[in-house]
Amino acid sequence: MKRKPRSVEPQREIAINLYRSVWEVRNDGWIHLSDEANRLADAAAEGGDLELARGRVAETLDLLEPIESYWAFPGRHGFLRLLALFQDREYADFNDLVHRISRALSSQSYRKSFVSLHLDEEAAVEEEERRETEVRVDRPYFELLIVDDLSAQEEETLRKRLRSMRRDEDKFIYEIVVVPSFQDALIAVLFNFNLQACVIRYGFPLKSRYRLDILHQLLENYEEEGLESLPESERGCLLGTKIAQLRPELDLYMVTDVSAEDIAGKLCENFHRVFYREEDDRELHFSILQAIEERYQTPFFTALRVYSQQPTGVFHALPISRGKSILQSHWIQDMIQFYGLGVFLAETSATSGGLDSLLEPIGPIKVAQELAARAFGAKRTFWVTNGTSTANKIVVQALIQPGDIVLLDRNCHKSHHYGMVLAGANVVYLDAYPLNEYSMYGAVPIRSIKQRLLELRRAGKLDRVKLVLLTNCTFDGIVYDVERVMEECLAIKPDLIFLWDEAWFAFAGFHPTYRRRTGMGAAARLRERFRDPDFRRRYAEFKEQFGNPEDDRHWLDTRLVPDPERARVRVYVTHSTHKTLTALRQGSMIHVYDQDFKQKVEEAFHEAYMTHTSTSPNYQILASLDVGRRQVELEGYELVQKQVDHAMALRERIATHALLKKYFRFLATGDLIPKEYRPSGIEAYFNSEQRWARMEECWHSDEFVYGIQINKTSRNTVLFMTNIGTTRSSVAYLIEILVKIAQELDVRNEDMSPPEMRLHRFKVDSLTKQLPALPDFSHFHRFFRCGTDSTTPEGDMRKAYFMAYDETVCRYITMPELQRQVAAKREVVSAMFVIPYPPGFPILVPGQVISKEILAFIEALDTREIHGYRPELGFRVFTDEAIGAVEPDSAGGAPAARIAAAPAV
Ligand SMILES: Cc1ncc(COP(=O)(O)O)c(C=O)c1O
Repeated sequence: MKRKPRSVEPQREIAINLYRSVWEVRNDGWIHLSDEANRLADAAAEGGDLELARGRVAETLDLLEPIESYWAFPGRHGFLRLLALFQDREYADFNDLVHRISRALSSQSYRKSFVSLHLDEEAAVEEEERRETEVRVDRPYFELLIVDDLSAQEEETLRKRLRSMRRDEDKFIYEIVVVPSFQDALIAVLFNFNLQACVIRYGFPLKSRYRLDILHQLLENYEEEGLESLPESERGCLLGTKIAQLRPELDLYMVTDVSAEDIAGKLCENFHRVFYREEDDRELHFSILQAIEERYQTPFFTALRVYSQQPTGVFHALPISRGKSILQSHWIQDMIQFYGLGVFLAETSATSGGLDSLLEPIGPIKVAQELAARAFGAKRTFWVTNGTSTANKIVVQALIQPGDIVLLDRNCHKSHHYGMVLAGANVVYLDAYPLNEYSMYGAVPIRSIKQRLLELRRAGKLDRVKLVLLTNCTFDGIVYDVERVMEECLAIKPDLIFLWDEAWFAFAGFHPTYRRRTGMGAAARLRERFRDPDFRRRYAEFKEQFGNPEDDRHWLDTRLVPDPERARVRVYVTHSTHKTLTALRQGSMIHVYDQDFKQKVEEAFHEAYMTHTSTSPNYQILASLDVGRRQVELEGYELVQKQVDHAMALRERIATHALLKKYFRFLATGDLIPKEYRPSGIEAYFNSEQRWARMEECWHSDEFVYGIQINKTSRNTVLFMTNIGTTRSSVAYLIEILVKIAQELDVRNEDMSPPEMRLHRFKVDSLTKQLPALPDFSHFHRFFRCGTDSTTPEGDMRKAYFMAYDETVCRYITMPELQRQVAAKREVVSAMFVIPYPPGFPILVPGQVISKEILAFIEALDTREIHGYRPELGFRVFTDEAIGAVEPDSAGGAPAARIAAAPAV
């Protein structure tokens, strides 16, 4: 049966976009409507200005109508009922219904119990519906999207039919949202975070009645793909692909009017199943619930809970297990009172039997890690219980042999520098662009990475270059164009491996804007691209035009295209799951998307994992990783979007608040990303005219973008980080505190005497204008360079690190003496990592020559915490004799002999 499309109406623009989210517009819209409905009811009862009140209500209804067409509650029929009351001028009933809906929405009670939208005289129908739906109590609720061009009557029949399938034993409960077109389906997928599954029925029109400003950006100009001319029968499949790109976690089904067998043969991998018309409604219902269960299951958490409920005697080395050592104690009862017994009942280890082992998983841990891999878009995932500090060392040790060259972001987390020492890598440090005004670094430009690779190629060392290691996003929220970096590097070295330290970015995989710029998201896209015939053609054209030019400048100035026949996708990502998602402290993950893992890495990875993993990992941390994965697979999209909303709201408030903007300014993309890396030309995601509309554009085109990442200070900035636990109240609280600070500053400034004011201005100037230039990495001393005639900069940090264990080859030097020697052009070489906090990156690593820029920076820093520097002694450096520094006269004897005397490491 082919349904007739509805009559085509002109498209209506919805003037909202995802940034300053539709959800807040919706929340605020209902609050506003409640107020206006009250006023209208009062005006009607007491004879006020009815037309004015009506006008205001009509305006809000107009705003809410398109939004509500994408949600199951109050749903299309509920909203129509509201409109009918308004049109019939039944203002008291209208007011009553608006309040009922608004309350149910704000308390989210519609998820837990039946909310009647009927008026009194319809009580009988209501009773019947209530009986049907009462069973929802205590079951997780979700919404099912149905894409089909149905009349209101047909929609109601379908809703009833699906409700009639409910059984007492169903674990979840759902309501339906019906949308009529391709575009509406996409809008619904973006708007409605309650959606968990989508049924695409055969044949539906393309266009929505509404036009959403961000849609065309998010969908990469899909209209130009010839969608208009695509037969209706093929739209379903394409819609499935598009939905999977936006929200890959959704379960997709197709119900078709043509031969289901035929369609099933052609269906893309995104669909769970295909059904023929309505004949299989029950089967569809079961499939939907079953697929939700697949995401809901938490194999390890469940196993641990079952274990904790079994009566067992504990005869292994874990006295706290089952709370025994506490329950019997006279002195530490408060520990149970605080934590509850559950956590101790679940304290166990692999050796006690019954549960899986993290070191050799074959049971629930193995399955749970596989589920995590699915959720984060990896081929395989490994859990780590000692944070990303350990995760990073595992990956580096697994991939690097002594003597391999690694290109490493100098401002990366210290675990990488130590990882290099442990693995014996030859390190080429990459410099990020400096942001001197804020005493922080940006990210490493693609041009510098290419330049280093080309230098190494010229020196005949490309075969030794194994890994590029970058931080995405940086501590300050700067995010790479991950796909471009990998593409261009692979064009120079096709088997290069990438480690993206995404310690702060675990949340990013659950939102379409961010996912594009994650290591796993980009790896999947590259893999697909290298198989795509269009890309092969593009490469052939590129090769023809570009050739193999001698001059490096051509390589640097051209956007390089890798050879899809030779390029391998070899990507590793580390996540501090505990930093941005629900997980106990130290819960981290390693995600692997490496085509050559089985062949080249598996054994070494296993050994590296064994090297760094405790034989007594904490099972509570593991269980939290399992549950955290369930959460993001079911509500990650909602949580991440809300987290972004909160950060945006904070920025908007500060940018528009008269007092706050006097003292505080949010750094915008223009402050943190220099023009040359911002082809979009956009300076700030928010401005008062265009509001948030341009953020998508930056995320599409700029070499670096600025994420919302907040929790540290630099000399003159403070970083606040919103996360998936942030609420509107906490944002309001922060604003309140900022206002108080601003008020205090106002009062203090007014009370200052002229000399005090001069001093104050001087201090402010020093903090905001006279900032020390951030130093680049200088170079490794030739003693620690790899090969005496090396023309490339790689250094053997491990040699320097272990050599510093020998007291006889090291000495301490005070700052004034060091300054004097460096000014006299003497080579002084650090024996230690020297790391000031903030900014928290090593300004010196073992084997590095100390430059005057570095000393100027240290001197200008007003931080007291400098790891690796002892104020009473100074800096630990190598003696001239040990490394053959200049001034052979004062060193005495032949340097070569002393070099040989240095410990061989
Ligand atoms: C970029 C980066 N990588 C790794 C880590 C280490 O992570 P964890 O605290 O999980 O050990 C941090 C910690 O701050 C970090 O900022």
